[in-house]
Amino acid sequence: MTTAEDLRHHRPDSDHHRLHSDHHHQHGGLVIDAVGLSKSFRARGGDPTELLSGATLQVAPWTTVAVMGRSGAGKSTLLRALGLFQPFDAGRYRLLGRDVAGLSDRACSALRARHIGFVFQEFRLLPHLTATANVEVAAALAGVPARSRRREAQRALDLVGLSHRLRARPRTLSGGEQQRVALARALVKRPSLILADEPTGALDDTTAAKVLEILRHAVATSAAALVVVTHDPVVATACDRQLRLQDGQLLPLLPDPDSVPKGPADRPAVGPSERPAEGSVGDSGVGCTGDAAGESAGESVAGPTA
Ligand SMILES: Nc1ncnc2c1ncn2[C@@H]1O[C@H](COP(=O)(O)OP(=O)(O)OP(=O)(O)O)[C@@H](O)[C@H]1O
Ligand SMILES: [Mg+2]
Repeated sequence: MTTAEDLRHHRPDSDHHRLHSDHHHQHGGLVIDAVGLSKSFRARGGDPTELLSGATLQVAPWTTVAVMGRSGAGKSTLLRALGLFQPFDAGRYRLLGRDVAGLSDRACSALRARHIGFVFQEFRLLPHLTATANVEVAAALAGVPARSRRREAQRALDLVGLSHRLRARPRTLSGGEQQRVALARALVKRPSLILADEPTGALDDTTAAKVLEILRHAVATSAAALVVVTHDPVVATACDRQLRLQDGQLLPLLPDPDSVPKGPADRPAVGPSERPAEGSVGDSGVGCTGDAAGESAGESVAGPTA
């Protein structure tokens, strides 16, 4: 596997770094600043299910946040909306200091392509492309110049331990290998925000630990924020903060009452970032429209235009 230093590279376009310093210095330094997030789905003929009801999430650079919660609680929905694949119904969402309300789909795609590394729960690799090409497409969309895309893709795949599978197509890869290609695709762009949906779900403990280390390293070297949805307590514990999505709220995960001494001092403080949102929210959609699958596929198939 590649060492940490090998991975550092210079982006020929300075836009990325400029944006980083902008949001650090001018926008309170938050990667995610989201308040009053709501989202519901209406089953055909049924009542709407409210997955998010005024949830709040604020994440600074260099910060890792684990989101836990039962199956169906809305974790993937939250992550897709944070990744600008689909809008929140209401709330305010600032990404890297920019209010995403009212952004066109095109603007959302551009923001996402450059700044967000998304690891889908179901991987979503392009089946007809090799592992390298899957990663190269993401690099191209992120603005990595043509001459260095292949090298960057191969480095990212090396980082996740797949340097021997560069030319493999997804269907010839194991689930865990596909998951790591998906991770390489997310990280090749040096994203400011990494959104990972159960990124160790298909991995054994040893490989999972490596993936966790890779994610933490990416956060450290790119001043990124990581929001990781996970059912794995090891992954959650390794994060700076642990939240639980429950009843539409993102709340600090309280320690298991049976495993820790009781007493007020043992309860994690509820910081301002996790306080349930107060006040009203607008009724217009927040973020971009368009469904996740269609948009991500369209984006990828569109391929490099440069
Ligand atoms: N586009 C949609 N239309 C209707 N319902 C939806 C849509 N997307 C998600 N849902 C519903 O929202 C609920 C939450 O789904 P979601 O995938 O966010 O859960 P999750 O917390 O990620 O679960 P898991 O841990 O199993 O991955 C589910 O009941 C799902 O059926
Ligand atoms: Mg999910």
